Amino acid sequence: MLKVVTEDQGAFYQHYPRVASVVTVNNGGRKNAMAVAWHCCVSFEPPLYGISVSPKRYTYSMILESKAFAINFLPYEKIDVIAAMGSTSGSVMDKFAEFDLAEDQPIKIDAPVLGDAYAAYECAVIENKILGDHAWIIGKVLAVHVAQELLKDDGVLNLDLVSPALYMGGDIYCSTDSTTVRYIDREKFRRH
Ligand SMILES: Cc1cc2nc3c(=O)[nH]c(=O)nc-3n(C[C@H](O)[C@H](O)[C@H](O)COP(=O)(O)O)c2cc1C
Repeated sequence: MLKVVTEDQGAFYQHYPRVASVVTVNNGGRKNAMAVAWHCCVSFEPPLYGISVSPKRYTYSMILESKAFAINFLPYEKIDVIAAMGSTSGSVMDKFAEFDLAEDQPIKIDAPVLGDAYAAYECAVIENKILGDHAWIIGKVLAVHVAQELLKDDGVLNLDLVSPALYMGGDIYCSTDSTTVRYIDREKFRRH
């Protein structure tokens, strides 16, 4: 495959698509929600989840002060909500009231879980490190919310029933295609 090789920062855009999610927070009764595309699982034991948040975001100080956040995974049908959470600021509005966001009760932290999410993690902040123009915030996962009926027997998300929202960068979103799901037994690659 012939590739163009460049040191141009503008080409640093090839890590998409990523799952577009929404981080929620509650700082002393003031709630907020922001879109995040840069996030991932960091450890299974203990369960740790990382999110990359620019210190410029209103959400950033809210997370640090409340020491907790929830990350909410939404279906493709809700990309409008994700885009809204990623283009408005809690510094000038109450996004929960403005966008009429439905809430589920958290059990371990104060941050609300979005009613539209098919899954969410409640996290307690254990680490915050500024790296370049973003901060890598790591939370210990204290509770997992999941719509059980959307999982297959093996615990994997049933893509016939839910299409996770994916983000391509800029203002572009896409989804998953359940007809592409394949099972590959890793055993066949192992050398004994
Ligand atoms: C799809 C999408 C993904 C985003 N991902 C991130 C991200 O991973 N980290 C980040 O700091 N900002 C991200 N943003 C930008 C913030 O969501 C945006 O600046 C938001 O308005 C901040 O809200 P706040 O001011 O209420 O904190 C993303 C925006 C969109 C639309």
